Amino acid sequence: MITRISPPDKKALAFAKEEIARGGVVAFHTETVYGLGANAFDGGAVAHIFALKGRPADNPLIVHVHRDYDLSALVDDIPPYAKALERAFLPGPLTMVYPSVGKVSPLVSCGLNTLAVRVPSSETAQAFLRTVGLPIAAPSANKSKHVSPVTARHVYDDFQGEIPLILDGGACSGGIESTVLDCTGDVPQILRAGLVTREMIESVAGKCAVYRMRTGEKPKSPGMAHQHYAPKCRTACFSAEEREKARLCYEEELRAGGTPFYVCERALLPFLSGNALDLGGDPAEMAARLYAVLREGEQKATLLIAIEPKERGGVMDGVLNRFCRAFGRDHET
Ligand code: TXA
Ligand code: MG
Repeated sequence: MITRISPPDKKALAFAKEEIARGGVVAFHTETVYGLGANAFDGGAVAHIFALKGRPADNPLIVHVHRDYDLSALVDDIPPYAKALERAFLPGPLTMVYPSVGKVSPLVSCGLNTLAVRVPSSETAQAFLRTVGLPIAAPSANKSKHVSPVTARHVYDDFQGEIPLILDGGACSGGIESTVLDCTGDVPQILRAGLVTREMIESVAGKCAVYRMRTGEKPKSPGMAHQHYAPKCRTACFSAEEREKARLCYEEELRAGGTPFYVCERALLPFLSGNALDLGGDPAEMAARLYAVLREGEQKATLLIAIEPKERGGVMDGVLNRFCRAFGRDHET
């Protein structure tokens, strides 16, 4: 199969509609990361997504709809606080988990009685969703465990020859996946941190809980229990205080004949000598650059030496969650 990369022009959108209607899979740009989409009503098409990604069968998918789609066709019992959050943040990088009405294929939610729904703000995603006119189940368009894709090229690198079309909307401005918010309780609860932050949710809903998995417990958001975002090269991770250790690690890799690269926030760059990848200067920039830096790093380096950014709270909850999981480090959120 030839994998085409195309902007969302008329021809590409018509082709995407045909593909989706016949149970195929199409990758598309969103403002967070690229998605790998299929008709959420079609069990065979949804199963194909799991097979393409090599995704564990217990990790549910998010359903994507266009901005005028009536969510009551898919979910019910939307509490007043969630309506207010929808008004404030949708379309945008916020996924809401509601009780499902059971219309989409049971494979989408892996048998859970809830459904995660998202209205992306990307023009490319909106054009795609409006043209196909169906709810689209879509995980991030990377092979399971690999780094999420933030350009069409990243998708191509993982799925070349396996999918017919990538709808190219350029680099993703957000850069980390949407905030996943459980709205089935009295208080909204963050299951996955993202660009819509706890502080932003609190400012609209009054309260916002953050889910923390306890050891031995069945996770509420199964995806969070799986290994994720791993670059294909070897990695090491240090706190900002351990800079000297990071330097020794770099020297050792050089002596062994390897090509080490640091990955760190911009403020640290003047204190390091040698190869380095710039994560960015502020939280939004670090979110936007993280996955591209990890993908660049795995191409160039034999060892990626990460130094944890110092800032906490806001968008950094999401950035550090991905950063620490990419480098196999424990993190609170
Ligand atoms: O920004 C995003 O959300 C991207 C783009 C493509 O929209 N999608 C994405 O999908 O990140 P994925 O499959 O990589 O992550 C979906 C997350 C997983 O952590 C999964 O466990 C959780 O959402 N999830 C999906 N349905 C759920 C449900 N019913 N209850 C709890 N968590 C759910
Ligand atoms: Mg993913």
